Amino acid sequence: MEKKDLDVLLKEKRVFKPSKGIVEDSNIKKWMDEHNIKSYNELLEKAEDHRWFWEEMAKELEWYKPWDDVLEWNPPDAKWFIGAKCNIVHNALDRHMKTGVREKIAYIWESEDGRLRRLTYEDLYKEVNRFANALKRLGVKKGDRVSIYLPMIPELPIAMLACARIGAIHSVVFSGFSAKAFAQRVNDAGAKIAITVDGFYRRGGVVPLKESADEAIQNAPAVERLIVVKHAGNEVAMKDRDMWWHELVKNESTECETEVMDSEDPLFILYTSGTTGKPKGVVHVHGGYSVGVYTTLKYVFDLRGGDVWWCTADVGWVTGHSYIVYAPLMAGATSVMYEGAPDYPAQDRMWEIVERYKVTIFYTAPTLIRMFMKFGDEWLKKHDISSLRLLGSVGEPINPEAWVWYHQMIGGGRCPIMDTWWQTETGNFMISPYPVTPLKPGSATKPLPGIEADIYNEDGKSITNKGGYLVIKKPWPSMIRTVYGDPDRYHKQYWSMFPGVYLTGDMARRDEEGYFWIQGRSDDVLKVAGHRIGSAEVESALVSHPAVAEAAVVGKPDPIKGEAIEALVILKRGVNSSPELKEELRIHVGKELGAIAKPSTVKFVNDLPKTRSGKIMRRVIKAKVLGEDVGDISTLANPEAVEELDRAV
Ligand code: WT7
Repeated sequence: MEKKDLDVLLKEKRVFKPSKGIVEDSNIKKWMDEHNIKSYNELLEKAEDHRWFWEEMAKELEWYKPWDDVLEWNPPDAKWFIGAKCNIVHNALDRHMKTGVREKIAYIWESEDGRLRRLTYEDLYKEVNRFANALKRLGVKKGDRVSIYLPMIPELPIAMLACARIGAIHSVVFSGFSAKAFAQRVNDAGAKIAITVDGFYRRGGVVPLKESADEAIQNAPAVERLIVVKHAGNEVAMKDRDMWWHELVKNESTECETEVMDSEDPLFILYTSGTTGKPKGVVHVHGGYSVGVYTTLKYVFDLRGGDVWWCTADVGWVTGHSYIVYAPLMAGATSVMYEGAPDYPAQDRMWEIVERYKVTIFYTAPTLIRMFMKFGDEWLKKHDISSLRLLGSVGEPINPEAWVWYHQMIGGGRCPIMDTWWQTETGNFMISPYPVTPLKPGSATKPLPGIEADIYNEDGKSITNKGGYLVIKKPWPSMIRTVYGDPDRYHKQYWSMFPGVYLTGDMARRDEEGYFWIQGRSDDVLKVAGHRIGSAEVESALVSHPAVAEAAVVGKPDPIKGEAIEALVILKRGVNSSPELKEELRIHVGKELGAIAKPSTVKFVNDLPKTRSGKIMRRVIKAKVLGEDVGDISTLANPEAVEELDRAV
């Protein structure tokens, strides 16, 4: 698109109304008709009775035993579908064995080097059962934790589903995380079994993940077995505790009974960054999570029989857990799963995949959209992507330029964009349009039915048209149940600022029409290429380097990544600063945490602004880095540090 066309579109403060065809045809319209609801606004009003709404939604799944009561709410502890018995895998796999979905493709998998695998629901069912039986044979029982460190290969969903089937709790760690980050999460979860791969493909090379897993397990003494998937074929050293996946499952039966779970039994732990150096193990459960992720996918992305769904996230993040693994399988959908870089071997790799598999619904992140925009439109013209009917965005606010480009160039002007706001903790979409919702570029529109979001000022008063704290005022089925092993942190982090109200950690504004505009995090969490990274984690990684005395990390706007990490470092006495040392520190952070957490710039300073109690004032540093007014600095112990910052930035 020409720059001038884009400018024109942006100036038009237009609202994009969905076509009549889209509205009439949509799953949500059918649902409203069945419930005698005339309009979307009426639906929102009716769903203020959240028990009623979520009970209706829960009826769409199969349960071994129905609930005695919908909700027990002792803030901040919620229990949903009390007394119900279920297993998410029953809805994701078992029930499809009785229908035509059995022969349907569950995953079309493609790797960077062009390897293909197609798994039907029946194939997946059998593979899951074989691996579940193998886990049982290794002594894994209901409630045990299994840590999974796998790239985007079918064994990743298979391992997750196998755990869930036997009632074990999986803890997937993104394969881009470092050995140290993996070890920390394995130890926190107390896993006895870990699963990894020999290696995986990235930009033409092989990442030898088994080496990282070995390094991690040296520091995770509770791990008894490491199961290794043979995938890239790179040479690996197998130790006594190691077992090959393919040998392990070779003689296992393709039938395995599904464990009957209580709706509140934990399904998984997924670690996410918070305001301290230690990641939080977010706990989700079988019952409520099933209901939430399944119904939000079905109604927001309007999934039907013939759709080909592609969510480009990595399964290592919540987006992949909810919307590559659990929800699409429960919906009996066909999903694309891609292992590799989005721009390899060429910048049209994604569009080639869309064309090859006739993808109908495409869900990605603003950082990728901006990257494609930069690559130029000619890459798109090489492919027929007219199979697309719906688009989605997640991970950070999408800027209107990127929105309009996405809508015009990818969506051909005909595909509505579902900008879905949610978090690891919320489990499913929270603020998002349905295909029937009029869209405003850059706004995630309104809270979904059954979700009561609000914007509060410091005093906990609801405000409109001003920025404030984004909060959720009623419990919802797929909400976080606790922070693994640390219920105190769960209470303090999310429920103490406004008692009984869930604090999201985001700032947002609501306009007169009730549309929400997310402004970004209110805490010290960064969003780099849509990934959540704690400033404190990067700082402690920096300080663990022998040359570093102190460090402060802030986010700086970046045209592609949304935010880039800027690190300010005080070196130890006697250490000489040099460009090589800056690079060494970047590499060090990559080793400590993973490549996604590498600062884009490192600057050396002699002093950092601190409070009298010695706490580094990131607010002041951030203002300086952004070239903004530093505001009130009367509480600073060392005001001269501000001038020092001027020199540095
Ligand atoms: C944080 C949660 C939820 C899946 C991926 C990230 C930001 C997420 C949006 C959106 C504006 C968004 C928020 C949120 N965020 N989606 N559509 N518009 N901001 O999960 O790693 O738990 O991060 O991502 O800041 O708090 P996560």
